[in-house]
Amino acid sequence: MRFKYLNRTKEKISVIGMGTWKMGSLDPNTRKIELQSIKVGLEAGINLIDTAESYSLGESERMVGEAVKEKRDSVFIATKVSPDHLRYDDVIKSCEKSLERLSTSYIDLYQVHWPNPRIPIKETMRAMEKLVEDGKVRYIGVSNFSLTQLKEAEEALSRAEIVSNQVEYSIKSRAIEKDILPYAEREKITIIAYSPLARGNIPADIIPQELLDKYKATPAQLMLAWTIRPQNVVAIPKAANPQHVLQNVAASDMALDDADYSWLSSLFQ
Ligand SMILES: NC(=O)c1ccc[n+]([C@@H]2O[C@H](COP(=O)([O-])OP(=O)(O)OC[C@H]3O[C@@H](n4cnc5c(N)ncnc54)[C@H](OP(=O)(O)O)[C@@H]3O)[C@@H](O)[C@H]2O)c1
Repeated sequence: MRFKYLNRTKEKISVIGMGTWKMGSLDPNTRKIELQSIKVGLEAGINLIDTAESYSLGESERMVGEAVKEKRDSVFIATKVSPDHLRYDDVIKSCEKSLERLSTSYIDLYQVHWPNPRIPIKETMRAMEKLVEDGKVRYIGVSNFSLTQLKEAEEALSRAEIVSNQVEYSIKSRAIEKDILPYAEREKITIIAYSPLARGNIPADIIPQELLDKYKATPAQLMLAWTIRPQNVVAIPKAANPQHVLQNVAASDMALDDADYSWLSSLFQ
């Protein structure tokens, strides 16, 4: 597994993390496989797990807590506060509830899930800084923030900084290349790429067989290798199938050369 530094911190996060949207099933058999998938990923070297208070009505966080309980300190847990909970008191309450569901005393990265134009970002960030001060949150991040919103969030902080923006990014979804990605590269803000496998709609028919053979890769692996190529991007594919998790881990070591990277990029302009 390869690692990248989170923003300008000394924190190392795996270039391939694990997303857990729609995970945390209440069906015992499904949940067992989901839990196994996460454990397989951790064993294989992944340390970044992404969840949210809203995922499966909190069951995703509960399952993550269950998966990491014997190795909490070696895992980097990223969770999110929902856009309806961005008032000062609500952020604090949401964090407390997430800590309880995750069975932990701290969250590594607490992210604002979506901006909420009805609530001043300054109020939200004041609560985030209080959580950092109290040792309940280690780093602050945002998600689905435009460049303007990201800059506003940065300005709203006085003692901490925004270390990451979690946004959709895959070979099929390239909107962030216009402004967010270059800004984040320049400012060393980590981009956490969500839906890097286009939610499972893998364009196998477009990816050239020549490249699959050259890298001995599956289309999904090439998509991931492509996504994490910019120096400040890590990806959080969701995989509830342990075999998929292992394939995703293997993609972390696949270094696309410049020509192939450009070729793949050009096929999905
Ligand atoms: N911040 C936000 O607003 C936001 C929005 C969307 C997502 N996210 C985060 O990003 C994570 C990932 O995004 P996503 O869940 O939308 O979709 P995704 O990761 O792009 O795609 C997930 C799909 O890909 C399949 N898959 C995984 N590995 C594979 C492999 N090696 N080969 C073939 N298929 C594979 C999965 O199947 P199996 O499950 O069967 O393995 C699943 O159907 C989420 O879980 C969540 O944590 C955040």
